[in-house]
Amino acid sequence: MCGIFGYIGEKEAASILVKGLKRLEYRGYDSAGICVLNKNEVFLIKGKGSINDIYHPENFQDIKGTIGIAHTRWATHGAPNEVNAHPHADCKKEIIIIHNGIIENYSALRKILEKEDHKFLSETDSEIFAHLIEKFYSGNLEGAVSKALKLIEGTFGLVVIHKNNEEIVVAKRSSPLILGIGENEIFIASDAAPIMDYTNKVIYLEDDDIATIKKSSYSIKNLKEEEITRDVHEIKWNIDQIEKKGFKHFMLKEIFEQPEALENVLRGRIKEDLVKLTVDFDINKLNRVVITACGTSWHSALIGKHLIEKISKIPVEVDYASEFRYRNSLVNENDLMIVVSQSGETADTLAALKEAKSKNVKVLGIVNVVGSTISRMVDSGIYLHAGPEIGVASTKAFTSQVMALLLFALFIRQKKGLSLDKNLLEEISSLPKKLIEVLNKSEEIKEIAEIFKSSTNFLYLGRGINFPVALEGALKLKEISYIHAEGYPAAEMKHGPIALIDENMPVVFLATNGTVFEKVLSNIEEVRARGGRIITITDRDDSNIKRLSDYIIKVPATMEELSPIINSIPLQLLAYHIADLKGLDVDRPRNLAKSVTVE
Ligand code: F6R
Repeated sequence: MCGIFGYIGEKEAASILVKGLKRLEYRGYDSAGICVLNKNEVFLIKGKGSINDIYHPENFQDIKGTIGIAHTRWATHGAPNEVNAHPHADCKKEIIIIHNGIIENYSALRKILEKEDHKFLSETDSEIFAHLIEKFYSGNLEGAVSKALKLIEGTFGLVVIHKNNEEIVVAKRSSPLILGIGENEIFIASDAAPIMDYTNKVIYLEDDDIATIKKSSYSIKNLKEEEITRDVHEIKWNIDQIEKKGFKHFMLKEIFEQPEALENVLRGRIKEDLVKLTVDFDINKLNRVVITACGTSWHSALIGKHLIEKISKIPVEVDYASEFRYRNSLVNENDLMIVVSQSGETADTLAALKEAKSKNVKVLGIVNVVGSTISRMVDSGIYLHAGPEIGVASTKAFTSQVMALLLFALFIRQKKGLSLDKNLLEEISSLPKKLIEVLNKSEEIKEIAEIFKSSTNFLYLGRGINFPVALEGALKLKEISYIHAEGYPAAEMKHGPIALIDENMPVVFLATNGTVFEKVLSNIEEVRARGGRIITITDRDDSNIKRLSDYIIKVPATMEELSPIINSIPLQLLAYHIADLKGLDVDRPRNLAKSVTVE
């Protein structure tokens, strides 16, 4: 999703901005732009495509200037093209803005401004800001921004410069904005990744903050123009964690980081057979858990439902955050809401959280990005500590989310005074090693990928706790390889999708040991009988599986509760290798954004 980066200091801004935009590439974008100020002159370059398409070093050689702003755009209003790319300027080309978010009343504002002779160049809602600030500007940029914001309905991470002012003015509402505090230089960004090259001291701006930033000072005000202070935080992860470390893609690196990611989510949370979490709710009042999330995080929530209901015997509902927020859900103060989000910035998940809080529901966050908006708004939380996830397709965050939900299930059980299953606790601690065994099968899975890379459809089938794994396997494949894939509960197949099965249809089965193993076997028989091509993920040496499957990916045996974590790995690898063999941009699949900050 759109990314913001800005610099004010003593160094040449252009190259810093380009490097920063590259750090933001993982968020997904379709156009980009940069603006540098130099002694009352404005240099602005923008266009469709990747940063490398827009940025040519020869164009930048003569660009001097130590103040600049930059943007990667993911189109919402208006096609991805040069005109719609940010930055946008006012009529006099003196005020330059970049904006993340959506202006809901933009049509009305545009009409008013057009009547006042403002000429709009783009189809974007964001350009409103340039003209509105122009309307109010009379030498005081911060004042003009503040007046403009009072007329805006919607969300914004806004960055503004004026060609005559040695300052950057920024403002935020429901769209993240971070200041990076260096020595005689300050950075502005929509997430910490581009700042980490320079400093680990950051300030997370809050909604309706307006900050005026100079090279070695800043001031923050609220909409009433009262001065406020915000704490400076120290980011703990370092820049090495966002490099590829010899892997061809971030996604592959992140798949291989899963054993370590699991160790991180577990660290310090199981001690002497007890689960330690800091979770704020009253167990005696807890009637129900409601989990909301989007995409892959919603799949981990579905697995969480199985785990929490089985282990802690508390009923669980799982909702898409985008559905929950508008359906007047009957949640109340005896419910606990869990929001699951890798980025901690997903607009729908954030809105669901706010909706729950407005009904006095305590909210627990399962979030990866430390300091993200969701992590700061929840009553309590479980950080994943999976490290930065750069590949757009979520992998290590997903398996870490499942583990966090399992820890939560165990924690509730313990709070209810019930004993924990020692075998399960032991199995949890041996899981990272088992993941390494699965990862060692990467080349074997690549051979299967080679055979199926030209398929146009795939079915993924699983049952019980592995049904969400089938959904996740199908999502991974479609988002990075553009092959149509569906995940189904295996038994549902005969109620419709079975019509699709013929010798061209690869069907991936999740058939590991557990309560439904025999049932899945019958479903495999049904597909075999119709000539489908069967790839089976199993931990069993079962003669029927051997007879029925065209290809088997053998995974280490584990307890059923943990099977989703193990079974996800071959599906991630299968999707990865198919996409890579097709020559696709695995880390930046088309149309997708890493952090979906619009609804
Ligand atoms: C798919 C994927 C997305 C995200 C979804 C929610 O691989 O990554 O489906 O899971 O956009 O994002 P978060 O977890 O950041 O709230």
